[in-house]
Order: sequence, then C-alpha cells, then structure tokens
Amino acid sequence: MASQVTALAWRPQTFDDLVGQEVVAQTLKNAITSDRLHHAYLFAGLRGSGKTSTARIFAKALNCAEGPTVTPCLKCASCNEIKEGNSLDVVEIDAASNNSVDNIRELRELVRYNAARDRYKIYIIDEVHMLSTSAFNALLKTLEEPPPNVVFIMATTELHKIPATILSRCQQFDFRQIPLFKIEKRLRLIADKQELDIDDESLTLVAQASGGSMRDSLSIFDQVIAASGEKITGLDVRSILGVVEDTILIDLLSGVVKESAEQVFGRINELVHYGHDLKQVYDTFTGFIRDSIVLKSVNDTSEILERRYGHGEAHNQVLEDLTVPDLVRMLDIMLQHEPVFRQAATPRYAFELVFLKLLEQRRLVPLEKLLANLKEFAGAEKKN
Ligand SMILES: Nc1ncnc2c1ncn2[C@@H]1O[C@H](COP(=O)(O)OP(=O)(O)O)[C@@H](O)[C@H]1O
Ligand SMILES: [Mg+2]
Ligand SMILES: [Zn+2]
Repeated sequence: MASQVTALAWRPQTFDDLVGQEVVAQTLKNAITSDRLHHAYLFAGLRGSGKTSTARIFAKALNCAEGPTVTPCLKCASCNEIKEGNSLDVVEIDAASNNSVDNIRELRELVRYNAARDRYKIYIIDEVHMLSTSAFNALLKTLEEPPPNVVFIMATTELHKIPATILSRCQQFDFRQIPLFKIEKRLRLIADKQELDIDDESLTLVAQASGGSMRDSLSIFDQVIAASGEKITGLDVRSILGVVEDTILIDLLSGVVKESAEQVFGRINELVHYGHDLKQVYDTFTGFIRDSIVLKSVNDTSEILERRYGHGEAHNQVLEDLTVPDLVRMLDIMLQHEPVFRQAATPRYAFELVFLKLLEQRRLVPLEKLLANLKEFAGAEKKN
C-alpha cells in the first residue's frame, strides 16, 4: 500500500529536478530555446527512470502561461493542471488498456480539434509498444500528417517492439539506468527532508537493490521504512531485503581461486541454512564478478560500479590472484548458466553445479599460459 507514496510525492517537477537524465533534459531544453520542436517524441528505456515525469515537465514547458520556457512557473493553471493530470490540452493515454485500432481512430478524430486553451495539444501515450498492428498503422497516419500545434510524446520500456515506420517519424530519447551514486544522493535528500534516522549504508543497499530504477528505489525505500523502527541501520536493511554479506561473496570467490570445493560447499550450505534466496544470491554474485572486472580494469569506477563493497582489503587480496581473463571466463559461465538456474526445480543443485563449473575452469590451464609455457620451453631448447 505504502509502496507508491514516496515515488509519487517526489515526482520531479522541473528539468533540473530530474536525476541522471542530463542528456535528455539538455536536448529538450535546447529544442525549446531554439524553437525547434518535433511533432513526435519517443522516450525509451528502463521502468521508473523518468519517462512519464519528463513528458509532463516537457508539456508544462510548452504550455506554461509564461512559456514556452525551460523553467515552467509551476503556478499557472496550465502547470497545475498538468501536475494533477487534469489538463484539457495534455491528454495521457495508457496504450496498455487502449490498444485497439478504434481507440487510435478516436484519437485521430480528437487531434483535429485545436488546443482548448493552451499553446499546444499534447498527447502522452504510455506503454506505446502495447498498441496492436492496426492501431500502429492508424497512429502512423496521424504522425505522417500531423495537425499544427499537436505534440505526441510516446513512452515505452520495450523499444524493440516499436515498428520502424513509427521510429522514423519520432525523435528518440534514451532513458538510462541511473548511476548508483545519484540514486543514493536522491535518497539522502528525501530521507533528510523526512527527518529519518537512516545511515548511508542503508541507502546504499536500497539503491543497489533498485537496478538503476529511481521508482524501484523509492518503493524499496518505503518497504524498508515500513518494516523498521525509529533508527535504521545497514544491518536492518540487509535482513529486510535479504542482502547477502560481502564477506560471503568474497569467501565464495576465494574458494574458487583456491580450488577448494570444501569452502565453496560450506558457504553455499550457510546460505541455504540462513534462508537466503539463492536466485538473488546468484544475481548478486554475477554482479560481484562483473564489478570485480570493473575494479581491475577501470580507473574511475564511481559511475560504473553497481554496488559498493565493504571489506576492500579482503576483496583486493582475492582479486590479486585473478587476471581479468580469469574473471571474464567466470562471468561467462555465470551468464551462460543463468537460464539453467532460473528453471531449476531445486536451486541449490543448480547453484552448486555452477560453482563446480567455476572450480573446473580454474583447473584448466588457459591457452595463453600454455602458449607462454611452450615459448619458454622452445627458448630453453634453443639455448641447449
Ligand atoms: N530521473 C528521475 N529523477 C528523479 N526521480 C525519478 C526519476 N525517474 C523516476 N523517478 C521517480 O519515480 C517515479 C516514477 O517515475 P516515472 O517518470 O513515472 O518513470 P517511468 O515513466 O520511466 O516509468 C517518479 O514519480 C519519481 O519519484
Ligand atoms: Mg511511465
Ligand atoms: Zn506555468
């Protein structure tokens, strides 16, 4: 029930309020200041990354009584109505429930009428990939002969389902995953405004669990608050979200490095014993390997790491015994076995199988090492 509260209360209202979508915001601002508007925009990308919010901000920018402006006043009738979702000239359509050709024909009739009061008539079509083929064709006709002062903003999480004919009529914007530290910063702002007693580790854990979606981070945030007492610490959040300790990830990895089936089986046994969701641990471990590659091969990791790790010393020590190609092979095995793992009736067996594969792979001498050995051998032969 509470899960929507914070996300809705904290919908960004201006371009500068949007987190992590700077390129989108800047391009739209430029279009407004240089008076170069398209008839149709397509916002594509991850759920909860700001597509609907941006569509509304853009609508306010276009229709604000003081506009068109990159800083809508947020006070005029138009700005207020768009915020509340009851503007006559900004129509939001959920394509998931209005996906038939009749719905789009109706829309085509509607777009012939001019804006009731404001500068533009704006149609925001959410989940546009849900339209039927005939509905897409009807929409295409409208996009081909757009009536003056009509702007379409379409949003989708599934770009690959949009027909090329539609794509070619739209200006496309990609909504990226929001980097971890930007989500953390936003959560800190919100927590402080709500005067919550919550530590940084908690917010990091919440941000990590969101997969780069701001909305998901806020629902998880609400879930954590609902389940905690006055003071919230990382320890509480770990247990609420069932997040596995970094030390376990490091132990699993070091077990593989040492080729110790005993250590690996032992840790898996603990995970099962403490009731961890192995599917979640699998994802976390895969991300851990991915992040380990980043740590070993990238200088400035701040925007690229998906998690933050405590126990840096122990982590670095394990990584010393691994090369990037070693880690790449591990990641490859993890990803290849993911579908197997998802379908397994008993996740534990599949989990163990994957770790046995990782161990086995350690025992195989990598080709490059073999070649190096051969060269050395040949060199020694020559000398003799
Ligand atoms: N880029 C962002 N910056 C700040 N808050 C965001 C952002 N993206 C999403 N949110 C939060 O998530 C909620 C839902 O976002 P929304 O724009 O509807 O996402 P989408 O349409 O991409 O699924 C917003 O009300 C806001 O609280
Ligand atoms: Mg949306
Ligand atoms: Zn206004």
